[in-house]
Amino acid sequence: MAKLYLRTFGCQMNEYDSAKIADVLRATHGTEPTARPEDADLIVFNTCSVREKAQEKVFADLGRVRHLKRAKPGLMIAVGGCVASQEGAAIIERAPFVDVVFGPQTLHRLPQLLERRRATGTPQVDISFPLIEKFDRLPPPRTEGARAYVSIMEGCSKYCSFCVVPYTRGEEVSRPFADVVAEIATLARQGVLEVTLLGQNVNAWRGEIAGRAADFAELLAFVCEIPGIERVRYTTSHPREFTQRLIDAHAALAKLAPHVHLPVQSGSDRVLAAMKRGYTALEYRSIIRRLRRARPAISVTSDFIVGFPGETDADFEATLALARELELDDSYCFIYSPRPGTPAAELPDTLPQDEKLARLQRLQAQIRSQADAIAERMVGSVERALVEGVSRRRSDELAARTGNNRIVNFAAGRERIDCFVDVRITARAAHSLRGEPLE
Ligand code: SAM
Ligand code: F3S
Repeated sequence: MAKLYLRTFGCQMNEYDSAKIADVLRATHGTEPTARPEDADLIVFNTCSVREKAQEKVFADLGRVRHLKRAKPGLMIAVGGCVASQEGAAIIERAPFVDVVFGPQTLHRLPQLLERRRATGTPQVDISFPLIEKFDRLPPPRTEGARAYVSIMEGCSKYCSFCVVPYTRGEEVSRPFADVVAEIATLARQGVLEVTLLGQNVNAWRGEIAGRAADFAELLAFVCEIPGIERVRYTTSHPREFTQRLIDAHAALAKLAPHVHLPVQSGSDRVLAAMKRGYTALEYRSIIRRLRRARPAISVTSDFIVGFPGETDADFEATLALARELELDDSYCFIYSPRPGTPAAELPDTLPQDEKLARLQRLQAQIRSQADAIAERMVGSVERALVEGVSRRRSDELAARTGNNRIVNFAAGRERIDCFVDVRITARAAHSLRGEPLE
């Protein structure tokens, strides 16, 4: 049986795509996963180019597996994901031992690309955007456990001035309503209780339901009705299309998790405009206030970029203030990384690196203490948590995920793995919670 070593960098979309790559290759080539590149017959890197550091890793990693081809001449090496999409044939030029380069929208063609490589002896590159064709060519979804991700839209048409995603993944395309619902129903029949709807901007989803135009809020209502599905999450959403209808859905749909990840990037209107985000800090605040009115216990996490070209001390203070006032929960903070081909890369970037780092650390420390305070307030409450498995630290305990996306560890029998359990939170630990199950 052929062995596949698959390494994934970057976001949840890439994790999702990697699961699909493994599925496709299992269906066509009967491959089995391996954790050791030296055992592999096929090595696949699913890459990320959203920040410079992520991009650099690809060539370092390729360099590390190159020698394996000498011992095993039949070994194939493929590079997919956003670096592949951006660099295309340039990857083969820089690393001629690579056999196949494929993009996020052509991963379903990987088996044919590998075959063509074998038949012709020349490396194959396909980074086109046949978009939704991908889903029609993938094997039926398969899952282990009670949680699953389902892509509902691909690509992004927002063109934030700093971001490569619209160039690497193409424009926004929604998957048809019937396909999304059928996939989730299949997963539910396999025992999935919690589904996360996935996309770069899930709230840009548009479709047709029973012959009428429908939006993301309506899709959510239907997904919550699928028998067996008990909890629904989505990521990532964008403030620009965070409509009142979507806010109302959080009041109306009890199965929607009390957590929203809504990237804000900055608290300064000047910086938001330069980023071409399409909203002001006030508009963002208004969304969060209305969301909390609809669902008081909702946890909001975000993404931040510090050190964007031209960001002043005052701009950065506005970001700190926004994060504090909105009591944002555990969030991702990044230092701005100029990406070739994006408009922001042309802007003069004069802020010294140590100042950027100092801002990053201040923001991270503040967010960390806000997240700790939220966890502290959870002590004493009862949380409905989905058990993911045995706790990492103690084999006699289970680890479960709360509605607001925190891990809670508690003593209980393994028969409760993949079940929802009501847990009383008893204490806060460094990066998790402790609790006891209610009978
Ligand atoms: N669709 C999401 C949204 O609504 O903004 C963002 C997707 S992006 C892959 C994930 C995060 O990476 C962004 O929210 C942003 O904070 C960060 N990011 C993107 N481009 C970046 C860059 N050039 N430098 C630093 N961080 C970046
Ligand atoms: Fe990137 Fe902005 Fe889209 S951050 S993924 S261009 S919403």
